[in-house]
Amino acid sequence: MALLIRGGRIITATEDYTADVYAEDEKITRIEPRIDDKLVAPGAEIVDARGKYVFPGFIDPHVHIYLPFMGTYAADDYASASKAALAGGTTTLIEMICPGPSDEPVAAFETWKSKAEGLAAVDYTFHMSVVRFEERIRDQFREIVKAGVASFKVFLAYKGALNLSDEDLFAAMKFAKDLGVIVTAHCENADAIDALQKSLLAAGNTGPEWHGPSRPPVVEADGVHHLCTFAELLGTHVYIVHTSCAAALREALGARQRGVNVWIESVIPHFVLDETAVEKAQFEGAKYVMSPPLRAKANQDVLWNGVKTRQISTIATDHAPFRFSDQKTMGKDAFTKIPNGIPSVQERVDLVYTCGVAANRLNLQTMVDACSTQAAKLFGLYPRKGAIQLGSDADLVVYDPAYRGTFSKERSYSNVDYNAYEGWEQKGRAAAVTVRGKVQARDGAFVGDIGRGQFLKREPTH
Ligand code: URP
Ligand code: ZN
Ligand code: ZN
Repeated sequence: MALLIRGGRIITATEDYTADVYAEDEKITRIEPRIDDKLVAPGAEIVDARGKYVFPGFIDPHVHIYLPFMGTYAADDYASASKAALAGGTTTLIEMICPGPSDEPVAAFETWKSKAEGLAAVDYTFHMSVVRFEERIRDQFREIVKAGVASFKVFLAYKGALNLSDEDLFAAMKFAKDLGVIVTAHCENADAIDALQKSLLAAGNTGPEWHGPSRPPVVEADGVHHLCTFAELLGTHVYIVHTSCAAALREALGARQRGVNVWIESVIPHFVLDETAVEKAQFEGAKYVMSPPLRAKANQDVLWNGVKTRQISTIATDHAPFRFSDQKTMGKDAFTKIPNGIPSVQERVDLVYTCGVAANRLNLQTMVDACSTQAAKLFGLYPRKGAIQLGSDADLVVYDPAYRGTFSKERSYSNVDYNAYEGWEQKGRAAAVTVRGKVQARDGAFVGDIGRGQFLKREPTH
């Protein structure tokens, strides 16, 4: 079916102009000041975008949907996560495949793919975690890259679970360099965290407010430095996920100055929430436990400024949903057992608009760059995604900047029992969201087809 978006203000990472956009067979085929009615196919869906922005579909390059983690499973499936994503204007998800240390990589890839097939309503792809790397399994990673997964993930954190040994990290980064695959990395020193956790617990400090002290900024900065040292030695392209604080950002920028090919992601909770959230009474602070932890408020300006100056490439979510009632409470007696994560896939774009653009911290083009275009470019999806160009997928967000509402659990699709941003004022909302030319969400509600989402095969571009 054809789609016509009439009279919107088109905002890309570099442009701002008013035009009609027309799509046929899932792709953008015309962008003109006024498309003649005679050129519009009978039965075409017409969206009136006058007074609204038209953005390229937003891409979240860091989500967890199927996630066996910390003795439980993340609460979403592809249906709930896609609905949440689309309601908030996100049309493409990049999910982390996080196998256990004894899982075979190809089997893990097949498992993660099977969780998306038939349930995804957004387009999707994966970063493949390397949690061990002996000689025997290298062919499996080659096979996974050939199948279209052109990015790896490594964890310098989570000792005894996802954490990769230095020997394997070095070998995996060399391998990635040879394949032209970018390595995304969770950078925190696992051994330092382990020691700090043990001493805090031994001193009787068990509540969620001790999660932050167990992983201070210097522990994250050390992880960034370590990864960048290997990248400098090997020439591997690296992408630091969820950079949360000034100290870690400084390390990454220092490495970049030395010539390391390093890109920086930060995630929306770190821009808008701070370390005091974990102090909430009645164990409610557990809702705000994620890693790296929420930081001192002063770091928020550093992150916003990093995006504004385009030193930080992307704003993702690290969506990792765990229910408060029976999952976060697994850590009642020890903060080390609280499943880490703050669900945000539905709220990300509206929070960036509300707290970034409407608060004069970012302009519209920078918002599009950080929430869509940079992820497409870094992960081999551009210009199919992240652009409004002839031939691009017709993934479009008609955004109403005049909308006023509040963030609430009631309106959220994620399978959790709380909203980390409950009651906050929301400025702006996606009025219509299309995936390959079909409207999948309207006015913050999912109206699309479950199962319409496609796996995006990517080539190595690094
Ligand atoms: O707290 C977090 N970030 N949970 C998800 C796992 C990860 O480290 O990305
Ligand atoms: Zn992480
Ligand atoms: Zn993550």
